[in-house]
Amino acid sequence: MKIDLAVLGRQFELHQAEYEAAALRVLRSGWYVLGPEVEAFEHAFAAYVGRKYCVGVNSGLDALTLAVRALGIGAGDEVLVPANTYIATVLAITANGATPVFVEPDAYFTMDAAKIEEAITPRTKAIMVVHLYGQATKMDDVCRIAKAHGLHLLEDCAQSHGARFGGTMTGAFGDAGCFSFYPTKNLGAFGDAGAIVTDDEELARTLRMLRNYGSEKKYYNKLVGVNSRLDELQAALLHTKLGHLDELIAERERIAAAYLDGMHNPAVKLPKTRANANHVWHQFVVQTEDRDGFQQYLADHGIKTVIHYPIPPHLAECYESLGHKEGDYPIAEKMAKTVLSLPMFNGMREEEVQYVIETVNRY
Ligand SMILES: Cc1ncc(COP(=O)(O)O)c(C=O)c1O
Repeated sequence: MKIDLAVLGRQFELHQAEYEAAALRVLRSGWYVLGPEVEAFEHAFAAYVGRKYCVGVNSGLDALTLAVRALGIGAGDEVLVPANTYIATVLAITANGATPVFVEPDAYFTMDAAKIEEAITPRTKAIMVVHLYGQATKMDDVCRIAKAHGLHLLEDCAQSHGARFGGTMTGAFGDAGCFSFYPTKNLGAFGDAGAIVTDDEELARTLRMLRNYGSEKKYYNKLVGVNSRLDELQAALLHTKLGHLDELIAERERIAAAYLDGMHNPAVKLPKTRANANHVWHQFVVQTEDRDGFQQYLADHGIKTVIHYPIPPHLAECYESLGHKEGDYPIAEKMAKTVLSLPMFNGMREEEVQYVIETVNRY
């Protein structure tokens, strides 16, 4: 049997007629960028997360970059960020001239709240948490620390649509929650897209300007902005998918439950689920000592897997100038050497789930 890490076409097929109707509606409307579909989706998504405002942008990276900019964070400022995140989180900080300060992850692959305070300096302006793989960071501790030190709090929710901590949706804790709707995400568009959610009216206003050349009124440019507008087609398709997001998450939960229940190979460490939070299983990430051998074994048996991520940002070639070296963040470095994401996608068939379980158990 051959199984890919994710087969996006299957998710499309689950609600194909609805997507086709939404796409046709936009094509026939004659209006294609920032219009009624974007506004309707922004309202619906803000309500879903439990926030007052949502600003649709071009990508998750833009959502993060513009949120950092809108909060006035720049040169000379430090932003705390987990040492095991995707590079985009860090790019958003450095794109604004600010300095990323890495914090080691906990056993749930999220920023270790117990290690935040030791990383705070007089230059620290914000904490940027990442709800990696679909599981919330320990937000009660993080919110308490941010408040005690007067720091901004940003959430990278690129992988956590629908994930909660203590009943509150990720994206609803900080100054702003930044989402990616890249096609593989749990709420994935059919192209690039992203959004920022917030309760702060002024911040939302600034973000709306920044995404559209820094203007509120056409050709009157108040801020040095960018072009990061969400288009009508993606908004209409995302709005359609948002209506099914909870059932899509429930399906992922069923696959994860089958994996957790069925896999019992002492060489394969299964992911831990945080109490008082729900995991939306953007990725199902296991750990093995001989990760590369394990990945090859699975490939030999037709199972495609991916490493999220093989090089932690502090060791990325592009960040040589930050001056970090191997050994600076040993927990994140160990994760980079041991993690492997197993197939997990909507529309995955029962026999495929069972085949992955049996193959892992035979390793
Ligand atoms: C944790 C994280 N942050 C940010 C991003 C950036 O999102 P995008 O690819 O939409 O720019 C991604 C996804 O690629 C991500 O996984």
